[in-house]
Amino acid sequence: MIDGVKVNEVQPLLALITRLVTAISTGGNYLLNIGPDHNGRVLPIFEERLRSLGSFVNAHSEAIFATKPWIFQNDSDSTIWYTSQVRNDTGLDPYRLYNNQTQANTIIYAFVVQWPMDNLVNLPLVIPTANTTVNLFSTQGFIPLSWNQPFQLNGGIQVDISGVSLPKFPSTDAFALKIEYAKDQNANPLQG
Ligand SMILES: *[C@@H]1O[C@H](CO)[C@@H](O)[C@H](O)[C@H]1NC(C)=O
Ligand SMILES: *[C@@H]1O[C@H](CO)[C@@H](O)[C@H](O)[C@H]1NC(C)=O
Ligand SMILES: *[C@@H]1O[C@H](CO)[C@@H](O)[C@H](O)[C@H]1NC(C)=O
Ligand SMILES: *[C@@H]1O[C@H](CO)[C@@H](O)[C@H](O)[C@H]1NC(C)=O
Repeated sequence: MIDGVKVNEVQPLLALITRLVTAISTGGNYLLNIGPDHNGRVLPIFEERLRSLGSFVNAHSEAIFATKPWIFQNDSDSTIWYTSQVRNDTGLDPYRLYNNQTQANTIIYAFVVQWPMDNLVNLPLVIPTANTTVNLFSTQGFIPLSWNQPFQLNGGIQVDISGVSLPKFPSTDAFALKIEYAKDQNANPLQG
């Protein structure tokens, strides 16, 4: 017990991040409950979680704020959650519920919420073109990563992260990839 709070009843940072990216990948809202004590103080353990979540959100704001769901919400047994932006939304319905996948216009963000033990991130739902680029969000800006297309991913991509020193925002296993110029795909997430 710290200040009357059972530490094991406070969500760990990775669980908070997972809930956040799960919510935004489906266009939902994120509600974080911080209970002040009877003197109105925010307890240190809550402050620590808030600040840590805040630094993760700041470092990934491009993949969080003003994003929309992509045509797929999750991948690789729900260890990956997607959001998306478009380069040019002129002519698109501002109330659209998701961004279609078009090679020239769609930017995909993949939040990885479970460290891949083999250092290979599998994204079977991302179909590449010769122009597809993958960048890792890091505290030093974007780090370009190479990808390949192993047969077992049915046309999707695999990204090898073994060669890079990973960001750790701030001390969690979660990280995010920015994927551009993936192939056009017709899929409608509103129809199961
Ligand atoms: C996506 O998430 C749903 C619900 O959690 C799950 O049933 C489904 O298997 C996941 N799909 C992939 C490809 O991970
Ligand atoms: C943005 O999209 C609109 C509608 O498709 C198009 O007319 C316009 O030229 C595009 N602008 C840029 C900068 O690509
Ligand atoms: C793009 O997405 C919207 C929904 O946001 C849908 O109504 C429209 O038909 C889609 N267009 C294409 C070309 O897939
Ligand atoms: C890659 O981009 C170039 C320049 O925009 C374009 O001409 C070419 O068609 C693209 N290649 C593929 C495979 O989409």
